[in-house]
Amino acid sequence: MTAEDPAVPVLTIDGPSGSGKGTVARAVATRMGWHFLDSGALYRAVGLAAGWADIDFSDADALARCARDTVVRFVSGDMTAEPRVLVNGTDVTDELRTETAGAAASAIAAVPSVREALFAKQRAFRRLPGLVADGRDMGTVIFPEAQYKVFLTASAEERAARRHKQLSEKGLAVKIDGLLREIRARDARDADRAIAPLRAAADAILLDSTGIPVDEVVERVVSLLPA
Ligand code: DC
Repeated sequence: MTAEDPAVPVLTIDGPSGSGKGTVARAVATRMGWHFLDSGALYRAVGLAAGWADIDFSDADALARCARDTVVRFVSGDMTAEPRVLVNGTDVTDELRTETAGAAASAIAAVPSVREALFAKQRAFRRLPGLVADGRDMGTVIFPEAQYKVFLTASAEERAARRHKQLSEKGLAVKIDGLLREIRARDARDADRAIAPLRAAADAILLDSTGIPVDEVVERVVSLLPA
């Protein structure tokens, strides 16, 4: 089976950060027994590696080389837990989720040669029995031929409230209006960039998860797939 084999089903889930797509995509992959591509983690990993190597973020060639050379491994002990992420052999699972890694990812993701360098690495995740691909441009650029496409959204207020709850659970006190501002700024940056801007594929099913429990969103997505 090659990456181009149309017999390997692909479900793409795109949407803004905080829409719940990571949680939903992982749950759907577990339910189906399919592989899972967390493309945001790849961008975060390259952002970190570029920082380690002291690469100037305006040096597109060096960033592209870094994207090509960075080895990212997802190691899962069991299918239901989130995998550990190793970047060039170092476990960065916790570091990867920080705002610093997110900001670095967002910056390098706007560089065309970085996106090009990550294209084949992402396509290589397409393997039997199937793939759930989570990101911003999965249905538009990386797997435009995917049989199943979902664009998952939620209002900015709901996404800020979810993020606030997550951070409070970790004992971090942050103001919700600050989070809302950050989310709006990140949305604008991801939607307005010249290359692979965040937008739904023309053939994607739009799903607004505002006010819908995550289990129900998972059910709705699973119902689109072959039994
Ligand atoms: O989904 P995330 O928060 O882990 O993504 C981190 C950053 O990477 C985000 O600012 C947008 C970028 N990204 C992207 O440009 N394309 C993707 N397919 C996934 C993430």
